[in-house]
Amino acid sequence: MLRAIYPGSFDPVTNGHLDIIKRASRIADELIIGVLKNKTKSSLFSMEERVTMLEQVVAGYGNVSVMSFEGLLAGFARRLDAGVVIRGLRAAGDFTYECRMSQANSALYPGLETLFLPAAPEYSHISSSMVKEIASYGGDTGLFVPQTVALQLKQKFAGRDLVS
Ligand code: PNS
Repeated sequence: MLRAIYPGSFDPVTNGHLDIIKRASRIADELIIGVLKNKTKSSLFSMEERVTMLEQVVAGYGNVSVMSFEGLLAGFARRLDAGVVIRGLRAAGDFTYECRMSQANSALYPGLETLFLPAAPEYSHISSSMVKEIASYGGDTGLFVPQTVALQLKQKFAGRDLVS
């Protein structure tokens, strides 16, 4: 029984994340998406909004659930008795940071493995920061995120004082 965690900020979930979720759900028996409540990084969407958007877009998967967590990922994995962390790699530049994180996590929770899934080429340029920037200038994010998320991004920035 392979229980895996796919952790992240998901501020907001993108089509790239969704592709990783789809592929990871075929590898793991149970996939838990762990949404980090980050103390240091301020997020555009609240925890509730991020979790709700994820729940909407993974509703069709029988073995995928969404949970929020605070603190160390290693502690979250230990509490859930999960043996694998899934992370997507978009480009070679992601690897150094991801490798260090994986080593720290397995030092904190021995036996915890990280499985890196390379982003499909069509998603390798997509990031949550990029879609937020596009949305902040009134651009259409529909190519990069699920429709429900594109709508919420539009609503978030509607009426804001954008560019001076
Ligand atoms: O989507 P992100 O923001 O790249 O995800 C980063 C995340 C949430 C996976 C990472 O910041 C994390 O695991 N944070 C929890 C705190 C932690 O365990 N830090 C030690 C790992 S080096």
